[in-house]
This record gives sequence, C-alpha cells and structure tokens, in this order.
Amino acid sequence: MRLDKYLAKSSGFSRKEVRRFMKSGEVMVNDAEVMDPALHITEEDEVYLSGYPVEAPGDKYLMLNKPLGCVCSNEDGTHPTVLSFIDLPRANELTICGRLDVDTTGLVLITSNGKWAHRVTSPKHKTGKLYQVTTADPIPEDAVEKFNKGLMLINDKERTKPAQLTITSSHEAEVILTEGRYHQVKRMFAAIGNKVVELHRQRIGNIELDEELEPGEYRFLTDEEINSIK
Ligand code: URA
Repeated sequence: MRLDKYLAKSSGFSRKEVRRFMKSGEVMVNDAEVMDPALHITEEDEVYLSGYPVEAPGDKYLMLNKPLGCVCSNEDGTHPTVLSFIDLPRANELTICGRLDVDTTGLVLITSNGKWAHRVTSPKHKTGKLYQVTTADPIPEDAVEKFNKGLMLINDKERTKPAQLTITSSHEAEVILTEGRYHQVKRMFAAIGNKVVELHRQRIGNIELDEELEPGEYRFLTDEEINSIK
C-alpha cells in the first residue's frame, strides 16, 4: 500500500494533511525520514508519525507455529503466551482462535477480527481442525467407527460430534474435529482406553501450517487463507 494511503487510513488524517506531515519531516519509515507519498509499505515496515508508531490499517490475521511449553491465553503467570512471539504493537489485545494445550504444538490462528475468530472456533461453522496424534498403545481399527459415531466423555452431557479418524501407523493417527471441547482429543483417546503422548495441529479448515515456520515463528495469512474461513 502507498505510504500516504497507509497513514491516512490508520491515522484519520486526510491524504493532503499526511503529505504536509511528510514535507515537514514528521514521517519516518523504519529508520529513514520519507517524503515520497507513493513509497510502497509492506507488513514488515515500521511507520512513525511525529515519533509515534502507526499501526497498519485493517484487521490482522496471523498463523503461528506454537512450540511446546507456551499457552494460548492473553496472560499467564507461569508460562509464556503465544502472543509473546508476536512482534506487533498491542499484540496482547489480539484474539487467539481456540486453545491448544501447553504440551500441544502446531497451528494457531491469531486475529484482531472477533467475528472471524468466532467462525474459526464455533462448532456451528463446522471448521475442521486436523490433529496429528501419537498414542501410548496401538490404535485399533474399530476406533474409526467409534470416533465417527461420537463418544461420551466424562462430565459432558452430549456425545462428541462425528470426528474423522485416519489411522496412519500402529501408534499414529490423524483426527479431524469440528468442535473444540476441553482437552478433546486426549479425552477421546482416553475414552477408548488409550493415551495421547504427542499432539500437533496441522490444519484449520483449508489453512495448513506453513512448513517454513519454525516453532515460535509466525506469518501473516494470505487473502485466500483469510477468505477460506466461511
Ligand atoms: N485436544 C486436546 O486434547 N488438546 C489440544 O491441545 C487440542 C485438542
């Protein structure tokens, strides 16, 4: 986006006013004073007006590769939160789309758009979440049908919604859930007498965890990824 448009959209000043700020040397991009209103600004650039950072206009949509040992909450007294990896102004105000346990790794979506976050997490929208599971004991074939029929979990009033289980080796499987109950994957395996020893989320809807992202790294979603959440 052009610098003058970026500034006008974020600050509320008109483009004419923004250009006046530029002429008087009040606009910096990264470490340089900038006077060219047409300069192309990317998400990586840091823009300052009169010494104050100016956030990029519009909502933010990110994917993070969650490492082990951090939590999906905005604050935690014990563990780092997933938001501590996000190097953006006011990152702690962003919404985390659904929680992964402290010992679960993989795809976490983070946004400033609460409605979009709701579409990711609400069972009504049936956005499938694909988990890769490693278990302590072999996974029997009949688990596929049990997951598909739904399981009664301790303390829950209703069966789980149909979940698609694909056994990939004796102790490994992929499971797609469309709801996000507390410790759901672990409790479903516990309900069939097994134990989850590793859990990783690989996909949400059609948004696949980017293999370029190391644990703790994040990137902005593409428009196609954002629009794929219905
Ligand atoms: N199910 C779990 O048991 N844990 C997670 O982190 C996510 C789904």
